[in-house]
Amino acid sequence: MKARKKWTVLLAVMLLAAVCLAGCGRAEQKKIVRIGHNQSTNHPTHIGLAAFAEYINEQLGDKYVVEVYPSELLGSQTDMVQLTQTGAIDFCVASNAILETFSKNYEIFNLPYLFASTEAYHAAMDDANVTEPIFNATEKAGFKAVTWLDAGTRNFYTVDKPINSPADLKGLKIRVQQSPTNIEMMRLLGGSANPMGFGEVYTSLQANIIDGAENNEMALTDNGHGDVCKYYSYDMHQMVPDILIGNLTFLEELSAEELAIFEEGFDLLNSVQREEWVKAVENAKDKAQNEQGVTFIYPDQEPFKEACMPLHDSVLESNPDIQPIYDMIQEYNTLYPSVEE
Ligand code: GCU
Repeated sequence: MKARKKWTVLLAVMLLAAVCLAGCGRAEQKKIVRIGHNQSTNHPTHIGLAAFAEYINEQLGDKYVVEVYPSELLGSQTDMVQLTQTGAIDFCVASNAILETFSKNYEIFNLPYLFASTEAYHAAMDDANVTEPIFNATEKAGFKAVTWLDAGTRNFYTVDKPINSPADLKGLKIRVQQSPTNIEMMRLLGGSANPMGFGEVYTSLQANIIDGAENNEMALTDNGHGDVCKYYSYDMHQMVPDILIGNLTFLEELSAEELAIFEEGFDLLNSVQREEWVKAVENAKDKAQNEQGVTFIYPDQEPFKEACMPLHDSVLESNPDIQPIYDMIQEYNTLYPSVEE
């Protein structure tokens, strides 16, 4: 009996030790916060996210370790949105363009010629009355937007055909983002839309699968598109923001104090990224012109704009909920009109 009791006590002690070890281990284990994006480590978005990671690791380092995965290491943007939905990763940067398949509300920021100027664009995106109904629209899908990032102005660029008017797009295969609004925009402009992920564009250009694409100036340099495309035409058709989205459960499980610190981090990301953006675009333009031999063209924007305007009506008709947001943006357009007017 004595020996049995001894063994029982020993067993209980071992069990307790195991439970304690597991418990203590868990308490010490830090949560890895994974953030994915599709840009290089030189890109303003990566620089902003590195500042965000440093801030959170400094403030909440006893509990969280933020890790940033650039260059589609975690997959294409569409893959990363799905990983964020399920909580396999915690955050990712997605172009507003691809988010419209998760909520129709996102269509608004994909409209061509929505913003009259960069100032109107920034003021609208900084106004929570404008962004909140959109940023919160995907909660049922398991994620929400926490801040926006500048992705400049999107323009057409082609391998060897200068685009001076929409007529020049006729018969050209142009890569667009995977968004119905962008496909419709290309149809209205007369070109042939080839939707594909960002990572596939360079090889498609090189292999003559497409004749051109549309993006900001950084795509020429940072993604090498300017090695293949020699004409970049400032038709200024879109200002599509990039959006940092977060897994909803992760965000909801943060304590009020932690959430406040994460929110400071999102603001820091936003301001660092936007500051870096201005410098990055200037450098990209310089490099494209002087090292890659890209010619920049400044066509009359009006014919492009006229061709695209029916899209405003059709998007608003199909989703009247976004009309008040559209109207608020028009107020910013009046306040900050186009410098060309
Ligand atoms: C820009 C934007 C990216 C997007 C890319 C694209 O680079 O910042 O978020 O993925 O355009 O055209 O797909």
